[in-house]
Amino acid sequence: MDWGLENRLSRIIKPQDNRALMLAVDHGYFLGPTEKLENPKKVIGPLLKHCDSLMLTRGVQRSSVSATTETPMVLRVSGGSSIIGDDLSQEDITVSIEDAIRLNASALAMSIFVGSKYEYQTVVNLGKLVSEAAKYGLPVLAVTAVGKELGKDARYLSLACRMAAEQGAHIVKTYYCENFEKVVQSCPVPIIVAGGKKIPERDALQLTYNSIKAGAVGVDIGRNVWQSEHPVAMIKAVRAIVHGNSNVDKAFKLYQKLASEDSKNTQKSKGNKPNQNKNKPNKPNQNKNKPNKPNQNKNKPNKPNQNKNKPNQNKNKPNQNKNKPNQNKNKSNKPNQNKNKPNQNKNKPNQNKNKPNQNKNKPNQNKNKPNKPNQNKPNTPKPTPAKK
Ligand code: R5P
Repeated sequence: MDWGLENRLSRIIKPQDNRALMLAVDHGYFLGPTEKLENPKKVIGPLLKHCDSLMLTRGVQRSSVSATTETPMVLRVSGGSSIIGDDLSQEDITVSIEDAIRLNASALAMSIFVGSKYEYQTVVNLGKLVSEAAKYGLPVLAVTAVGKELGKDARYLSLACRMAAEQGAHIVKTYYCENFEKVVQSCPVPIIVAGGKKIPERDALQLTYNSIKAGAVGVDIGRNVWQSEHPVAMIKAVRAIVHGNSNVDKAFKLYQKLASEDSKNTQKSKGNKPNQNKNKPNKPNQNKNKPNKPNQNKNKPNKPNQNKNKPNQNKNKPNQNKNKPNQNKNKSNKPNQNKNKPNQNKNKPNQNKNKPNQNKNKPNQNKNKPNKPNQNKPNTPKPTPAKK
């Protein structure tokens, strides 16, 4: 393996224990201001030092992460469709290798949508990205997206993970499922597990534990950390499992302890605020010793008019809530999927009609390919993935 590639990979999967704790904050690339990730900078700041790597988009990296961090970046380079668009699986590569290098990415990440309408496009894109990234020793993480109709069973995920590995992905990110060992065993490259939608903290820790026990190198976890009431407590508990070999009970106890300390500290700081001036009796006299300060405005005549120049700020932002109407209703970050995609089934009712003779022409395929999950079923994976 090339030195650069090996070095970058070792920053993501720690060679000490062959484990990885990746924090995912890339959700905005198709979900927009995801609940509790509305302000990425605020979310990322306290968590950055507790993860091994951060998975994000270039926009968030540039705007919300300090360039002095030592945490490696796993840069999402695919996108193009939103949660309210026609088809989430229609993604392309949106970031050039040059820009990824400028951002000092330690790995590139993109999604493939196996079984969807855009399966071919996304899988070919993965192959091309691996070839391009190889020129610069950049590893590629392939994300096997799942959808409502694509299922999350071991047969489907094994197919998707194996395809990603065959295209040259260095790490594959997928979802945990029953018989997950099978998915891991049939994938020749390391597998990292996505956290998925928010579930109770103990359950998320159980998922982390189960994933590792089944052979995953770690988790690429997002919502179950930063949608928790106590994100730092949660990531520390996840870390205890990934790198500390904690069991679920121990990790959950750690979470509870840290969460309660966090609550106390929050209460304290709220309670202390009114008394802040009491403890700082010298502040009122500060101006006495600095007689020149009161005249600062004299020398900056433009400052007094600052409010005049910004009177209409609220006018320009009156409709923000219009664009985020139902986020809290569904809390799953997929606000109006059904509303906005009501006709998907209408528009795609004939898929089976158009492919009726496939089995005729390939009568023995199933004998030789026992792992193709639902091909003979009328519900051949539908191209309406909804990852979240
Ligand atoms: C992947 O495609 C997503 O953008 C997230 O990176 C991934 O789903 C992991 O985040 P979460 O733990 O919230 O599922």
